[in-house]
Amino acid sequence: MKLIDFIQSVLIKKIGRTSTAIDLSFKYGFTSGVLMDYVYQNRSSGKYFIGKLIDRIFLNNIGWQAVRERKSNLMQCIMQIIDNKGRLNIFDMACGPGSYLIDALSQRNSNKIKVICQDLNDDSLKTIKTRLDKASIYNAKLVKGSLFDKIDSNKSDLVIVAGVYEWMINDDDVKRSMAVVESQLEPGGDFLFTHLSGHKQLSMVENTFIDFNQDPVRMKIRDNRSIAMWAEELNLIIYKQIQDENGLHTVTWCKKK
Ligand SMILES: C[S@@+](CC[C@H](N)C(=O)[O-])C[C@H]1O[C@@H](n2cnc3c(N)ncnc32)[C@H](O)[C@@H]1O
Repeated sequence: MKLIDFIQSVLIKKIGRTSTAIDLSFKYGFTSGVLMDYVYQNRSSGKYFIGKLIDRIFLNNIGWQAVRERKSNLMQCIMQIIDNKGRLNIFDMACGPGSYLIDALSQRNSNKIKVICQDLNDDSLKTIKTRLDKASIYNAKLVKGSLFDKIDSNKSDLVIVAGVYEWMINDDDVKRSMAVVESQLEPGGDFLFTHLSGHKQLSMVENTFIDFNQDPVRMKIRDNRSIAMWAEELNLIIYKQIQDENGLHTVTWCKKK
């Protein structure tokens, strides 16, 4: 770890928890939907002046800017798919609090859309339920489950796996998840997934923060072409890949033949 990263890591652990974001990251995990949601909202808060200041610096980090761009890129793809198809079944396999999905649905007529929101985490499911109700989206089913589980009935026109492959260190787990998605999709169905294509402070993050299982955070950078090839091996056709302006997070849009 570089000296500057080491100093940052010590400061984060000592006084960082006055910042709401850093406190959430230790309570729920750096990879949790709760933190992701706070990052999307991008409104700084914390204890005392110092907490608010650290929170703003944390939220302004280039990595979180890229995550917010990823959300916006995902939303654009979701809205385009809705516009193309009109009536469709959407399955978000690890939804977290689901901001991109609800924000996209809120901008479209959601009456013809059925949604399944799945996550392992109860808090995320409770949050998304409240948000769906608030947005008057009633055709949604909440499922507590894993993205590795097969679901055989009710195939989907759009499957989303966002903010997950970034933390999956084992390539075989990503391929296994993609195979589940492929079997879940209708012919002609769309698959949107995200992955990490770059990071400026990976060793500092891994040495400082914990994941949602309270283990040290691990993230894996993958190049766009290799991850696209895994989808192609399953006969999914890559339609496009969209990156944030610093090339840290990629949204891949592919289609089942
Ligand atoms: C970083 S959050 C991303 C949430 C949301 N998809 C987004 O991009 O804003 C990761 C989410 O994946 C969930 N998760 C992790 N492993 C999972 C698994 N095997 N199956 C389903 N959900 C999982 C976590 O509970 C968490 O809500």
